[in-house]
Amino acid sequence: MANSKLMPVLPVAAYTSPEWFDLEQERIFSRTWAYAGFAEDVSEPGQYVSVQAGLNNIFIVMGRDRRLRAFHNICRHRGTQLLRAVGHTQSAIVCPYHDWTYDLEGALVSVPDRERQFPGVDLSDVALKPASVDLWRGMLWVHPDEGAGSIMEWFGDIEPRLGPHRVDELVEFPDTRTEHLVEANWKIVVENYIDGYHLAHLHSGTLAMYDHSRIASRFVGPHFAFWEPLVPEYAKRIEQNSPYPLVIPAEQAGAWVPMLFPGIGLAETESSWSVFHVTPLAPDRTRVVTRTRTANASIWAYMHQAVRSYGFWAGRIRGKFDGVGDSDDPMASGDFMAEDVYACEQQQRSLQSPYFEHGPSAVRGEAGVRRHQQLVQEWVAGDA
Ligand code: FES
Ligand SMILES: [Fe+2]
Repeated sequence: MANSKLMPVLPVAAYTSPEWFDLEQERIFSRTWAYAGFAEDVSEPGQYVSVQAGLNNIFIVMGRDRRLRAFHNICRHRGTQLLRAVGHTQSAIVCPYHDWTYDLEGALVSVPDRERQFPGVDLSDVALKPASVDLWRGMLWVHPDEGAGSIMEWFGDIEPRLGPHRVDELVEFPDTRTEHLVEANWKIVVENYIDGYHLAHLHSGTLAMYDHSRIASRFVGPHFAFWEPLVPEYAKRIEQNSPYPLVIPAEQAGAWVPMLFPGIGLAETESSWSVFHVTPLAPDRTRVVTRTRTANASIWAYMHQAVRSYGFWAGRIRGKFDGVGDSDDPMASGDFMAEDVYACEQQQRSLQSPYFEHGPSAVRGEAGVRRHQQLVQEWVAGDA
């Protein structure tokens, strides 16, 4: 391939080898702020949530003083994980193995048979190890390092390029959570998210309401900012034609779809606000969890909006999706997420072939992909 052509930055092994996977876990996912859920997930004393941040499992718990604290989820005795997933403890955290008990502020408060078994051990020497926790735009974040500082040092520069949404005023209805297990490397999933070139092609039917010719995107530090407006026909009649109540003023309608390094996408549109949480599970396996906030409106407002927009969408959908639902073909599903998962998995499969080689990369539409690859390379090399 001629040198004058733009080529991808990372080798194939970066997407297939356990060595790359381990280095990324250690040098990227253990050294960056990790998304841990929505603010309301931990809003009462004793409520907790745990999250994997690279090599570290960390839990956030609200103390009796209503302050959020984060701790490494490791019992100080023999290391058993203390808490799993999401829940509500009474007033103490009890290790399941030998019942060592910690208070909500991380202090070890009781050890069974202490006098006989642990003479001379000072409980205050064996408190839980703290991590960092912060709230940003309605989301909980943790960092394994207790001294990580303010989250604004990490996200402050990208914040002005996010959508004008008042995230705290939006609500999550029950069961918005979706989970996809994608048989592809996490970077393929992230690269797909920031690839502007595929939008008009893979999603020619499903994302046709956006004007992909007017995309504005750029990296701000390690984070990718992305905005695109609605197509004029849709923008003109947005108040009637949005299937859900609007969450920003009609004149600002469009989509802000940033990818926060290393793998937290946001999808901030005129009618909803979603997170797209990418977790690497293995070199060729990635979990994507989404959750969505929408307008804090009555069910009647939702129904009214759906009915108002029905006529506008029915005609367009009928022409575009003939045969939708007739088969298991993801390309006929009418679901842009299914289209993305399909494309990512097909790409991963080809990486195993000895005939695979990277082709030239689009100057503009794939500039973000190359930049993300460069960032991964720098972090893995320890240069970031
Ligand atoms: S490992 Fe937790 S009490 Fe023993
Ligand atoms: Fe896509």
